[in-house]
Amino acid sequence: MSGVTLEHVSKTFGEAKGVENVHIDIKQGEFFTFLGPSGCGKTTTLRMIAGFYYPSQGIIRFGDMEMTNVPPHKRNTGMVFQNYALFPHMTVFENIAFGLQVRKMSKQQIKEKVEQAQKLVHLDGYSDRRIDQLSGGQQQRVALARALVIEPSILLLDEPLSNLDAKLREETRYEIKRLQLELGITTIYVTHDQAEAMSMSDRIMVMQSGEVQQIGTPHEIYNKPANRFVASFIGETNIWEGIVREVTGNEVLVEIHQSLMLKGYVENASSSADLSVGSKIAVSVRPEVIEQCNSNSEEYDNKVQCEITVSEFNGASVNYMCNVAENVQIKAMFINQGSRVKQSGESIAFQIPKESIYFVG
Ligand SMILES: Nc1ncnc2c1ncn2[C@@H]1O[C@H](COP(=O)(O)OP(=O)(O)OP(=O)(O)O)[C@@H](O)[C@H]1O
Ligand SMILES: [Mg+2]
Repeated sequence: MSGVTLEHVSKTFGEAKGVENVHIDIKQGEFFTFLGPSGCGKTTTLRMIAGFYYPSQGIIRFGDMEMTNVPPHKRNTGMVFQNYALFPHMTVFENIAFGLQVRKMSKQQIKEKVEQAQKLVHLDGYSDRRIDQLSGGQQQRVALARALVIEPSILLLDEPLSNLDAKLREETRYEIKRLQLELGITTIYVTHDQAEAMSMSDRIMVMQSGEVQQIGTPHEIYNKPANRFVASFIGETNIWEGIVREVTGNEVLVEIHQSLMLKGYVENASSSADLSVGSKIAVSVRPEVIEQCNSNSEEYDNKVQCEITVSEFNGASVNYMCNVAENVQIKAMFINQGSRVKQSGESIAFQIPKESIYFVG
């Protein structure tokens, strides 16, 4: 087992940029996720860690050992590819055994290890089944067993759930997490699905166009997004453009609209946000932090009166899309506690807690 360090790693393909200046220190036993939209450089970064690509610049280490230009078969990583890359006409057993046969183990040893790996992914009894006779979820587990059977020091998973339907994705998500905790193996997971990343990871690296946007725990990334891209890519949020009107002590007053003046705290600003008076700023507020309040009450900061345009009842929650003014909308989300759901056309008063306002620049 070991951690993985990338020091200022870049990869170009001719003129094209793959990834630029990735600098991360993944700890031993950590579940670390690369998250971002298609084409942002997730697979490229993972392939450099596996050794299928060599960096154009920078250094890769596993623990203290430099690996930058070491070929894949000498890295002891187990990888599940984006499309699984199984051998369709071979059996489950033969697919899982492949990596061990390359390593020239005895027949008996191979049999024991493959059976153990099959058990781990709940595929015992499937040894003689051909891959093309398995469901998508079963194929996914064969790919996982094949990666694990070589007892890798690092597990690399490239969108391993992308071929599964929603329910199976969720089940397999828990399965992968369980295995990772059980084996304590350093795991690097690639996905473009933010819910998957949030629920599984110790830390997440958010990428866009080959560049790292933020590295942090799911909690940090969700609550303190480094910029506007991260705020809107992770979960749902209200993003409003405003102008800084006042800075007093640790409080900032931003005007979104004359009927939406928001007070927040200076420390809730990303490094890209300019808090000087008169500058333009983007404000991010999550729908679930917004509270309903009494429209006659004067006592709140950040109170806003608006009209519901869309009321959406989802069972567990209620979403209200509301108009504050032309071009200024608020989306608010409430847990359903059985009270009456307001309908479109009704008016509603909200209060936005100061500590839940985030300036994303
Ligand atoms: N072998 C290659 N030759 C040229 N360009 C490449 C190559 N591999 C990747 N790229 C380019 O590098 C960028 C990053 O690609 P990458 O496959 O890492 O994206 P990704 O984040 O894994 O996307 P997806 O979610 O679609 O799998 C893209 O612009 C892609 O076109
Ligand atoms: Mg990819």
